[in-house]
Amino acid sequence: MAQSTMVENPLLVGLPEEKRPEPFALVIFGAHGDLTKRKLLPALYALYVQDLLPESFAILGTSRTQMSDDQFRDAMRESVSKYSEDIELEKASWDSFAKSLFYRAGDSTDLDAYKLLSKTLDELKSSRGTMGNHIFYLSTSPSLYVPIITRLAESGLAFKRKINEPAWPRVVVEKPFGHNLSSSIELDSILHDALREHQIYRIDHYLGKETVQNIMCFRFANSIFEPIWTREFVDHIQITGAETIGVEERGPYYEEAGASRDMIQNHLMQLVALVAMEPPISLDPESTRDERVKVLKAIRPFDPDTIDDFAVRGQYGEGFVLGNRVKRYRDEDRVSPESNTDTFAALKLFIDNWRWAGVPFYLRSGKRLAKRVTEIAIQFRKPPQKLFEEMGGAALRLAKSENPNVLVMRIQPDDGISLRFATKQPGPTTQIRALTMDFRYGTAFGSRTPSAYERLILDSLIGDPSLFARSDFVEASWRLIDPLLEHWSKTMPGKSSRHGTQLNHRPFPNYESGSWGPAESHELLALCGHEWREL
Ligand SMILES: NC(=O)c1ccc[n+]([C@@H]2O[C@H](COP(=O)([O-])OP(=O)(O)OC[C@H]3O[C@@H](n4cnc5c(N)ncnc54)[C@H](OP(=O)(O)O)[C@@H]3O)[C@@H](O)[C@H]2O)c1
Repeated sequence: MAQSTMVENPLLVGLPEEKRPEPFALVIFGAHGDLTKRKLLPALYALYVQDLLPESFAILGTSRTQMSDDQFRDAMRESVSKYSEDIELEKASWDSFAKSLFYRAGDSTDLDAYKLLSKTLDELKSSRGTMGNHIFYLSTSPSLYVPIITRLAESGLAFKRKINEPAWPRVVVEKPFGHNLSSSIELDSILHDALREHQIYRIDHYLGKETVQNIMCFRFANSIFEPIWTREFVDHIQITGAETIGVEERGPYYEEAGASRDMIQNHLMQLVALVAMEPPISLDPESTRDERVKVLKAIRPFDPDTIDDFAVRGQYGEGFVLGNRVKRYRDEDRVSPESNTDTFAALKLFIDNWRWAGVPFYLRSGKRLAKRVTEIAIQFRKPPQKLFEEMGGAALRLAKSENPNVLVMRIQPDDGISLRFATKQPGPTTQIRALTMDFRYGTAFGSRTPSAYERLILDSLIGDPSLFARSDFVEASWRLIDPLLEHWSKTMPGKSSRHGTQLNHRPFPNYESGSWGPAESHELLALCGHEWREL
């Protein structure tokens, strides 16, 4: 139990008593790594000080670096004080929390390491009352996922359990979940050999964000938006995941991934699903996940002959971002000087179902763009009659092309929702201007916003997989993206295989750092008479 409950606790809202976690031991593979330091331990400590962890629990870190329990505790204390965003590390709380931290060094590819883990988990069961409930968090490089899951099964630590059976093992897998369709299917089959689907938690940390969870609330807890959330009223939808940072020290990872794998296959696809899904019949995990998967299955597959009309890739050159000169991608640390990795990708998708037939969904994501912003913009159709446009001249302050009715869900930063509409400017003549009605999380609610990792770790401890990617979602998403990746791997940028509009006609780098991506991304929308929003 936390020594002080100093923080107001939004995670408790709507959380019935029986949904609190049971006693557990959490094993973190990759405990010496970046994610553990920056996200996992700060989130676990935040859960602890909010009294969301049970009386009995243990956190057991493992990686190859030799450390004693006390050295691990000191290292984690430093990380929590450095990376906790809005929870102060308080000595009494930390000292009490730290008693539950343990560390065992070992090579996770080596079966002997699991004997040590197994012995330690047995000891923790009696000394810390963890009741044999074990959750294994794979926070290592993806190349270790298969060996770790295999060894967990071989050592008897991972095995199939029915829902609600005691002494359960669960596995949390970090993204990326596979490198392509075949590797994700292989990883899944190894997981399913060892565990049942309800024991597997595939992290997509976007789903843990408050603003992403709010998409469903906004749509289905109100009655005024859903009737117009259809092809009759929506002109098109734009989803942007823009970053100002480059690859930083993750060059080798990014060389293999690119924007399409790093952002679009997982995070942006989850946003598409949430914004386009039908209302689920209930909020149980499977009903909501069923609806999300249905959206992906309805997305029109890429046709190899026309793929260049639907997808654009880019790579940043040098330029200025937020006033600082930055180098081109090919000059980044541990990146090939001839790299053809995409640091930007934009797609046009169609969801061929009753609700969305004919409505383009535009997705874009990139690094070293002008601004850090993730948002979903629902652009509604123009009024059927150009009543005010006909008045002409000064009457209309809207740009001719502007279509005022756009609803924007800002995921980050400045989380919130805004609605833009045309209105009469006060005065004796009829002058029309577009204005924005704005809701901001930061000012609307007094309480702190829990981090995505707090929510996701808590849900995995409770056993609620709603906010995790189910096997069929991951597969459907790879099934969609795979042909694109294959096409891009066969055609060099600047050597478009098609004859029509010649999108993708320039070699890399094809956009300046600090811009909004390559010109071809704008042409992609122009083909349908649309424009990216200016952010
Ligand atoms: N960092 C982030 O913000 C972030 C965000 C989203 C997703 N992720 C995902 O989370 C995962 C972890 O990322 P990360 O940035 O924390 O990686 P990382 O910094 O490379 O950490 C992984 C750790 O695994 C340990 N390790 C490597 N080989 C091992 C082995 N054979 N046996 C045991 N331990 C071994 C290493 O510690 P030792 O040298 O001590 O063994 C290393 O510190 C990745 O899949 C990544 O894609 C990370």
